[in-house]
Amino acid sequence: MSKKLIVAIDGPAGSGKSTTAKLVAQHLGYLYVDSGAMYRAITFLAIRSNVLNSNDEITKLAEETDIELKFADGKTYVFTNGENITDNIRSVEVNENVSIVSKINGVRTPLVEKQKAMSNINCGIVMEGRDISTVVFPNADVKIFLTASIERRAERRAKEYKEKGIDVDINEIRKNISLRDKIDSTRKLSPLLKDKDAIEIDTSKITIEEQVEKILKIIKENIKKF
Ligand code: CDP
Repeated sequence: MSKKLIVAIDGPAGSGKSTTAKLVAQHLGYLYVDSGAMYRAITFLAIRSNVLNSNDEITKLAEETDIELKFADGKTYVFTNGENITDNIRSVEVNENVSIVSKINGVRTPLVEKQKAMSNINCGIVMEGRDISTVVFPNADVKIFLTASIERRAERRAKEYKEKGIDVDINEIRKNISLRDKIDSTRKLSPLLKDKDAIEIDTSKITIEEQVEKILKIIKENIKKF
């Protein structure tokens, strides 16, 4: 029963991936990885260096930057070449550009490589993103695809911003989420889609606790198989 499982959780923005994946990992004593934080980190660096218009320069950043994710006190801290950029990666500007940066082949290749290497650890792993079931861990033991209506997803994002004291217009959030959904699901490389083996959970009308409960039940059923 000591098999260390790889759990992949994919889904669009605001589907509850992060909160759910964190709680599931915490419950099982597994490593939690927010793969989106890596794409956000490269996007922030590209904005700061003013190279958003050059795929080559952005690719260079993805290839040459040392990205480190540290999870502590319920939060993912992000360091690039030792610099703490945790508070910079969730800005409106990063939100607006991250899906464009994530389309670049030269960005995805090194980041996916780093994500794959993260499973070489002594414990199980819960990784969340857009292509974890399909590309990063096609052999994951458990694959979950979370969905929710655009209205619910926008409401959740607005609530998160409000809690952080950031004033936002829900219509702008809805627009940003819809645009990211469109870019993420229609890009040629590793689009956001439900893997054939993934279990879909619609989170529009259930609580976080119920989501976590459902996923833990699925994982426990899988653990029994080993
Ligand atoms: O938290 P939220 O769902 O808003 O986004 P995120 O998980 O931080 O991901 C931000 C963006 O990074 C997504 O909209 C995708 O464009 C990209 N991404 C990706 O392409 N592949 C992943 N595995 C994770 C994120």
